[in-house]
Amino acid sequence: MEIKVSTGKIEETKAGAVVVSCFEAETQLTGIIATIDKALDGAVTQLISQGEIKGKLNEVTLIHTLGKLPAARLIILGLGKRSEITKDKIRAAAAAVLRFARQKRIPDVAATALGSGSTDVSTADSAQVITEGCLLGTYSFRRHMTVEPDYPEIKQFYIVEADASKLGELEDGCRLGRIQAEAAILARDLVNEPSNYMTPTDMANTAKTLAEQYGLKINVFDSQHMHELGMGALLGVSQGSDQPPKFIVLRYQGNESEKIDIALVGKGITFDSGGISLKPSEGMEDMKGDMAGGAAVMAVITAIARLKLNINIIAVVPTTENMPGGRSFKPGDVLTAMNGKTIEVISTDAEGRLILADALAYIKTFPVSRIIDVATLTGACHIALGDICTGVFGNNQELVDKIISAGKNSGEKMWQLPMFEEYKEYNKSEVADIKNHGGRYGGAILAAQFLAEFAGDTPWVHLDIAGTSDTTKERGYLIKGATGVPVRTLIDLIISLTK
Ligand code: BES
Ligand code: MN
Ligand code: ZN
Repeated sequence: MEIKVSTGKIEETKAGAVVVSCFEAETQLTGIIATIDKALDGAVTQLISQGEIKGKLNEVTLIHTLGKLPAARLIILGLGKRSEITKDKIRAAAAAVLRFARQKRIPDVAATALGSGSTDVSTADSAQVITEGCLLGTYSFRRHMTVEPDYPEIKQFYIVEADASKLGELEDGCRLGRIQAEAAILARDLVNEPSNYMTPTDMANTAKTLAEQYGLKINVFDSQHMHELGMGALLGVSQGSDQPPKFIVLRYQGNESEKIDIALVGKGITFDSGGISLKPSEGMEDMKGDMAGGAAVMAVITAIARLKLNINIIAVVPTTENMPGGRSFKPGDVLTAMNGKTIEVISTDAEGRLILADALAYIKTFPVSRIIDVATLTGACHIALGDICTGVFGNNQELVDKIISAGKNSGEKMWQLPMFEEYKEYNKSEVADIKNHGGRYGGAILAAQFLAEFAGDTPWVHLDIAGTSDTTKERGYLIKGATGVPVRTLIDLIISLTK
């Protein structure tokens, strides 16, 4: 979808539909909507008095203009109470109105900078979140469909603004919104892809293509190189699979400094069967998405490159399948991670923390200031927080707070879980330095405590996206399937670190 900003009056704009917003409990029409009402001989006033237009959040009312406006249709979009407007409500409303227009086969749509003006939302922010809502909310994954969709895609969307002095702000917001949304969509595409189309080798090839496209440095290690580095935990997980594992390292160098400001680490299990500790077959198909953390960090670094930020970032993705077989690692086995720590395997299904252990140990060989890992790590986190919030854990409250606040900005909810010392007890092993499964209770925290051992004293945050990386319900600008969480939060965070 092409999204453009232009100067002009919405009531004079020619398009398949023009969208203007209204707020709840504001019956006195003023400004643009009053002008439009007049042109339509009081149609809007009438719909309000009849109770059809209430201004409730995401309420959509279609009016055919029958030649009284240059646009064939007018859509009145409710934004709820003016005092309660948020950027995320605007994202969701933009998504709702575009899906409505698409269903009505309207080829092009124009709107004002929804939600800005007499609210706390700035013009630039409005343009950013409208753009995000439009692109994310009309997303579909049709790569493996051989039949045409029920309706064509909307070709053009215009944000129309009468005040020419606001054009620059709108353009900046629109550009940032597009970069944010396209990164989230890249992550969604990779996560939605079935595991027979997204093997570790496919992940690595995707990373190579992205590196070329966005001018990133890339290294991909094969299992031979992993052996040389001593990545026994990652290799242990990969043993049962016929697909060769890959260790992907992407780098963005925004300045000359040797120091790496942020290391992003993403879990890249392209299919998690559970291995010898086999998962039940019901719902196992969802485990094609167990590389969502890896997809997210790859997407984030491409956005940072597009934004040309003055910062140095490394993104690391350990990627393998977790499969049962004659060569599989087994419960009771002891693996040695790259930093020399030994790990007793209690469950081969707690594989995410094993591959992340080697990735964290690898990252620690660089001068990194902060580490953020992203992983569909535990069903326990899904149980604890549902599909609404991502679980946040860390050893540095300042970094935790920054991520939670970036999440608020992005409409990706984050909730911190505790890291009390006492939890560590459960991960103690009788035969090795640590074990990979400390029991069912507090499972998300025990997994985070395991990772903490490998992060050491570097400021580190772990995001458990097991509940939030995909959705079974359409919600706002989220479409069934992969959500792209937490790509936009991490981009927002990294932008804020450069300011
Ligand atoms: N990939 C799963 C976690 C997961 C579950 C992600 C559901 C998304 C949806 C992870 O590898 C796993 O299997 N975790 C186990 C850990 C347990 C064996 C300690 C779990 O959550 O059951
Ligand atoms: Mn597992
Ligand atoms: Zn897993």
